[in-house]
Amino acid sequence: MRQRFGLSRVVKLASNENPLGPSTLAIEAAQRALPGMGRYPDGGLALRRRLAERFHLKVENVIAGAGSEGIMANVVRTFLCDDDEVLTTDAAFSGFQVLAQGRGVTYRTVPYREWRYDLPALAEAANERTKLIYLANPNNPTGTFFTRETFEEFHARVPERVLIILDEAYFEFAAGEPSYPDSMKYRFDNVITLRTFSKAYGLASARVGYGFAHENLISMLLKVKLPFEPSGVSSAAALAALDDREFLHKTLENNTRGLAYLNQEFRELGLAALPSAANFITLVFEAEEEARQVFEKLLRRGVIVRPLKATGLPNCLRISVGTQDENELCVEALKSVRAELEMAGLERDSYATTH
Ligand SMILES: Cc1ncc(COP(=O)(O)O)c(C=O)c1O
Repeated sequence: MRQRFGLSRVVKLASNENPLGPSTLAIEAAQRALPGMGRYPDGGLALRRRLAERFHLKVENVIAGAGSEGIMANVVRTFLCDDDEVLTTDAAFSGFQVLAQGRGVTYRTVPYREWRYDLPALAEAANERTKLIYLANPNNPTGTFFTRETFEEFHARVPERVLIILDEAYFEFAAGEPSYPDSMKYRFDNVITLRTFSKAYGLASARVGYGFAHENLISMLLKVKLPFEPSGVSSAAALAALDDREFLHKTLENNTRGLAYLNQEFRELGLAALPSAANFITLVFEAEEEARQVFEKLLRRGVIVRPLKATGLPNCLRISVGTQDENELCVEALKSVRAELEMAGLERDSYATTH
């Protein structure tokens, strides 16, 4: 891209990664684990033990896998039969859409309500064929979240035999919000919570995620899961990342500052931004064509953001929070794109009045 557009710098704000990279402790631990690569790893057992300790659970309640998406894939493989139905929101996290739709079962959705999961409508939509309901809290791609009260009302209305995935990939970013619920504090037997080392812990490429659920559920997943994921090097990095509280603190500080800065700049630019509790902000444009043009013109300026057409929101773009420097570059590029689009609009108008 650098060559194609003659750019000196390119910033990627498209995949909600940690702009600070991994913690130094995680890198060092991965390096220390490298000589052990000749042996098969422990299937995540040491990591499961540590997570169980950290969250005051039994190891039987914890699973670790190749990213939270890897665990999601196992849930889909373990529990869905051909006649089952999956239920979620419109424009759900694209990774889940691909997994569930790829399984070939009926995939049903209900619309957002004010850019949030409409939990009462989802409870209403559950029927005798519904096997799995997928919820992300906070949600990707909107960044919005639901409260414990809303979830508990929903849960009470959904039959116990329905498995609920509660995807908390952005948990650490949202944990500071007073009304954001930590699902570790409201456990139900038919809920599996999924979390990841890919976001706040900066280990997206290591592919490590984890889940908490009833031991029967975890034991079924362990039977289906590939025995040697996550890899030994990745597990070592994740274990060290868990201990690096200073890095996590820096990450969250950078994110809070970045969200505040971007929100203010977007407001001043007159852009409609959804309120986010995660590490990204989604912009809503009036039309798909405007979103497409902004995306392409940002690209030409070296700023890669995420178009959400494939996810189901064609008039939206999602922008990950970067370092302050990257955020400023993004805002400058947006201002310049704005000016170019306004100029093109003026020229079009004047052409229309003179011809
Ligand atoms: C809501 C949500 N869940 C899961 C994932 C995947 O995370 P992992 O890298 O752990 O597979 C993402 C990544 O963007 C996400 O946004």
